[in-house]
Amino acid sequence: MSAERPVRSDRGRSGMFRTKTVEQSIQDTEEPEHSLRRDLSALDLTVFGVGVVIGTGIFVLTGKVAKENAGPAVALAFVLAGIVCGLAALCYAEFASTVPVAGSAYTFSYATLGELPAWIIGWDLILELALGCAVVAVGWSGYIQSLLANAGWHLPGPLTGAHGGTFGFDLLAAVLVLVLTAILVAGMKLSSRVTAIVVGVKVTVVLIVIIVGAFFISGSNYQPFIPPSKGTTGGNGLAAPLVQLMFGFTPSNFGVMGIFSAAAVVFFAFIGFDIVATAAEETRNPQRDLPRGILGSLLICTVLYVAVSIVVTGMQKYDKLSTKAPLADAFKDAGHPFWAGLISFGAAVGLTSVCMILLLGQSRVFFAMSRDGLLPRFFSTVHPRFGTPYRSTILLGVVVAVVAGFTSIDVLAELVNIGTLFAFVVVALGVVVLRRTRPDLPRAFRTPFVPYVPVLSVVASLWLMLNLPAETWVRFAVWMVIGVVVYFVYGRRTSRVSQAQRSGPPTV
Ligand code: ALA
Repeated sequence: MSAERPVRSDRGRSGMFRTKTVEQSIQDTEEPEHSLRRDLSALDLTVFGVGVVIGTGIFVLTGKVAKENAGPAVALAFVLAGIVCGLAALCYAEFASTVPVAGSAYTFSYATLGELPAWIIGWDLILELALGCAVVAVGWSGYIQSLLANAGWHLPGPLTGAHGGTFGFDLLAAVLVLVLTAILVAGMKLSSRVTAIVVGVKVTVVLIVIIVGAFFISGSNYQPFIPPSKGTTGGNGLAAPLVQLMFGFTPSNFGVMGIFSAAAVVFFAFIGFDIVATAAEETRNPQRDLPRGILGSLLICTVLYVAVSIVVTGMQKYDKLSTKAPLADAFKDAGHPFWAGLISFGAAVGLTSVCMILLLGQSRVFFAMSRDGLLPRFFSTVHPRFGTPYRSTILLGVVVAVVAGFTSIDVLAELVNIGTLFAFVVVALGVVVLRRTRPDLPRAFRTPFVPYVPVLSVVASLWLMLNLPAETWVRFAVWMVIGVVVYFVYGRRTSRVSQAQRSGPPTV
């Protein structure tokens, strides 16, 4: 065991708003026992980005949202969500190039806003990463079950997951998560090779949808492009977007408001570009390659999404689209089962990389929190041979496998969105704060027009959050309250920064 280095903190601030200096964060990555191997290039990062971004959002949610919220205008919802993510990406790129350390928004908040906000973000990221991984694993299992059903094979009912209140365990989803956990423990390079193949299959399938599907478009399906607003019936008021309740609108779908609520849901399709930042510490040249990886993957995905949604809503009338496998089913409807099968296969392959990278991001955030003493230090030891944080990866893999096994996805996806948007808000604020408190730090990538772009990013993310259902807000609040309690009971005392402050002036 190597001797632990003392932790340097901002001596001017104490208690829950104490910060950990950027230099300290970077220095921590150099402790031999707690440092990750630097293996990744800009191309690897872009592949990672595309690998995690293209998934359930485009393969499943496009149909559901077109049918229930926006009609063919779902393409506009993708544009809106893409703009919100673009603004956030400009902020993420600056922070990732300034603080190239594992842990993403968590690490960044620790350096800028203080320990409690950092803890809150770390806790919040569990919603995005671990829960997101579980959601996608269940979606993947659905695709595989439908492919197996085509071949006449059926799993026993109780092993296909929970349906409509009935008890069940989704065996395939849980197995997927455990296999991916083993791959991640074996090392980043292996993971990125597997990812590269999977991403190749996925992008090919998306291009097939766009190019082949374009031949089956019928202009009449775009009439009306923005269906007229329609009041929603049934359900309790909490199912309506918060913004509609706040301003006393009658809860409705379609129309212009429908495009906004659709954007808040299809936002899920963009989740992941920010995760590229969590691989900062494993990147050979983070200052140059991180911004390229983040912005590059976001741009590629936005173009593909808009194209796919225009094609699919042109192939089939929006109210006829399937909500389970809309891309494949649009081809079935057009009388092309071969293409439909190929698309289902590609989707199933593609979703594996989404799960894997979400799990990777989560294990790195957990690793960073453990290294800082906010979670037990036991979990931040790196494997002597593989150079990966194997303990945190295995723990999280098992937990996510269990959650994926017992959980159904619908509502949870919205919780993933609100958690991610909240992180975007904090990162954008952090960029402004760090420009003021540490103007001296080298920034290989600078967000343009600070503070206007970060402020716009905050407003845009909040706007999407407000377009999520009120009940999602309630669940989010409950989760965050639990997190604050855990911090005061555990992390506040055990944090390395707090221990350094108690034991006198730092020596670094
Ligand atoms: N963006 C990822 C997906 O759509 C999470 O599955």
